[in-house]
Amino acid sequence: MNIFRSEKLFPMIKKQVYLETYGCQMNVADSEVVLSIMSDTGFGITQDAANADVIFVNTCSVRDNAEQRVRQRISTLKNYKRDNPGVLIGVLGCMAERLRTELIDKGNVVDLVVGPDEYRKLPELVESAFSGQRGIAVKLSRVENYDDIMPLRTEGINAWISVMRGCDKFCTFCVVPFTRGRERSRSLKSVVEEVKRLSERGFKEITLLGQNVNSYQDGEFDFADLIAHVSAVDRSVRVRFMTPHPQDMSDALIQTIAGNENICKNIHLPVQSGSNRILQLMNRTYSIEHYLGLVEKIRNAIPGVTLSTDIIAGFPTESEDDHQQTLDVIHNVGYDGAFMFKYSPRENTKSWEMGDDIPDEVKVQRLNEIIDLQQTISLRRNQAHIGTTLEILVERESAKSNDEWMGRSDTNKVTVFPKENARVGEIVKIKI
Ligand code: 5AD
Ligand code: SF4
Repeated sequence: MNIFRSEKLFPMIKKQVYLETYGCQMNVADSEVVLSIMSDTGFGITQDAANADVIFVNTCSVRDNAEQRVRQRISTLKNYKRDNPGVLIGVLGCMAERLRTELIDKGNVVDLVVGPDEYRKLPELVESAFSGQRGIAVKLSRVENYDDIMPLRTEGINAWISVMRGCDKFCTFCVVPFTRGRERSRSLKSVVEEVKRLSERGFKEITLLGQNVNSYQDGEFDFADLIAHVSAVDRSVRVRFMTPHPQDMSDALIQTIAGNENICKNIHLPVQSGSNRILQLMNRTYSIEHYLGLVEKIRNAIPGVTLSTDIIAGFPTESEDDHQQTLDVIHNVGYDGAFMFKYSPRENTKSWEMGDDIPDEVKVQRLNEIIDLQQTISLRRNQAHIGTTLEILVERESAKSNDEWMGRSDTNKVTVFPKENARVGEIVKIKI
């Protein structure tokens, strides 16, 4: 610890909070809420863990490997804490919710365990922890949506706005309904207000977020209404959304995407499996025929739309034939991209009780086949753009070169191109 910032010497100096985020965009958005709450109650925010009095780790439980990464991080923090005993360590998010006291009991590292619906209590819990009282707050709420908290965002081009929290779908493989609780939506009015302020601050792209974003409901307003209102705030701001569930992909929503130029023509539509038997065991609530019909409807209504998906390989009882059906769907839809995972059994979920009967080598082999096929299709879909001109929103410098920008098309194609006269935040026409 830096003694020049010791409380006794300089009582006016703010305690500094450092936060690192694991997992999905919802966690990124939650971290911005946490930083806002901490900074409003007088804490400073630091980008450097070595300057911090409080280290928060916002965690993910969705698959076992996500948890393992966090556990490794906590064990390195253990050494750090040995040398810096005054520093508080707090575990936030889904692992806090899932593991609760286990995190505090194990190894004297963690001082605070705070679940996703209890962030308002953080300043108070941190103060108590500084006086030696370790704290745990993991109650899930039916109403907490942090509607009145303006997230602390770093300036940039893209802003993420969480519009609903929780999930009522209970897919049998998923911990989210247990770690994030029941669905609840923010008011349309406050989301639209937030978008206005972000547009005034110069943000050029807004992504509406929710675990199940298209089941958004505020009184009579559904997600189609919300995104229509949001897109009308400033037509020069692009609007995206994540993650929709196929079941709630209404005709009205498809028409709203089609009818508003600044709503991006890219839809992430998780399919999970191509086999009806597995979809039923997963409690996904649609058949593959329904899903393919939806894809056709979307493609007819929104010319040029790009689609991406999530796939799980090796769900309990998945046969070679089920797996082939998944490959068929990937082939038939021709996704532009996919997130592809090995099934990971999660305690307390329904599928946990089904056992984990697919051997790891089989899961790995199926996953690799899925990845290989998807890569071939992604390449083909990208190559089809060669020679065409795309409108690209310039986001930032390319990771690989100081002379080039990186940006994306509204169909979510990443492009890298010479800087020339373009500036960050502008939309430029780029020949691919
Ligand atoms: N095992 C593997 N993948 C999972 N996902 C969610 N839970 C699991 C699990 N237990 C994947 C799903 C979901 C994405 C966010 O993570 O594909 O859509
Ligand atoms: Fe999990 Fe299914 Fe809800 Fe998505 S829809 S968060 S996969 S339970």
